Amino acid sequence: MTALLTVEKLKVSYPTRTGVIEAVRGVSFTLGKERLGIVGESGSGKSQTGRAIMGLTPKHGIVTADRLDFNGIDLLKASAGERRRLRGKRIAMILQDPKYSLDPVMTIGRQISETLRTHEKIGKAEARERALAMLEAVQIRDPQRVYDLHPHEVSGGMGQRAMIAMMLVAGPELLIADEPTSALDVTVQLDVLRIMDRLVSERGMGLIFVSHDLRLVSSFCDRVIVMYAGKIVEELAAADLKHAQHPYTQGLLNCMPEIGASRHPLPVLDRRPEWAA
Ligand SMILES: Nc1ncnc2c1ncn2[C@@H]1O[C@H](COP(=O)(O)OP(=O)(O)O)[C@@H](O)[C@H]1O
Ligand SMILES: [Mg+2]
Repeated sequence: MTALLTVEKLKVSYPTRTGVIEAVRGVSFTLGKERLGIVGESGSGKSQTGRAIMGLTPKHGIVTADRLDFNGIDLLKASAGERRRLRGKRIAMILQDPKYSLDPVMTIGRQISETLRTHEKIGKAEARERALAMLEAVQIRDPQRVYDLHPHEVSGGMGQRAMIAMMLVAGPELLIADEPTSALDVTVQLDVLRIMDRLVSERGMGLIFVSHDLRLVSSFCDRVIVMYAGKIVEELAAADLKHAQHPYTQGLLNCMPEIGASRHPLPVLDRRPEWAA
């Protein structure tokens, strides 16, 4: 399998007045045209890993790596302009809440067609056609009507599907989905994830699916890496979840209620300083 993305010893740190915060502390993995899950509790460095790959680390953050390679492009050496051109066109990122990514004053359809027009030299009519087709691909039943709505006029689930449409319209090769459905109702979550999953496999894309929910990630990914305190503590095939070796992974499994199960009280996640060493 040819690697779409190679990450070697990625580190992200933030100097502060009281010392350096090490958000990511030497993360390594490769990704082909497959679905990789990154899980870990809040603050373990998942989003910072995704943002560094995307080139969206806040200015005061310091990113280093032995290697950060996307399809033969050395991302560490790429200029700000090159990184910007890659974003949306070849690497896309979906965030938790569409409210922060969709422009509230622009209609959904226009946002999708303008995204397309920033990456490809096409006319307005063609952009509109392709935006409508993309809305249909994310299973929006009445694309013509939704095209002219503003983000606040649609439900959270529909907003997130519009967001997926916007992110995939230019045909990226890699999608980073960072807790893409955590803000949605449980019933809507699975619908949206299934749509995303289908589009990713139909288009032969690579997917990095970031979530704190180990079971959810395993059901949508081929492989899972488990992060704790900025490091990878375990990597395993999703099918081997039951055989997780690391006590932290086992803890994550035990903390996630299975759908339909009623366990009161929920167990508390165990943490040990030596796991962060
Ligand atoms: N802008 C920032 N400035 C300083 N520290 C940050 C910043 N963003 C994130 N961090 C630190 O990085 C750690 C990892 O954050 P993040 O990757 O967002 O965690 P996760 O996505 O796993 O919940 C956090 O614990 C936080 O201390
Ligand atoms: Mg996060």
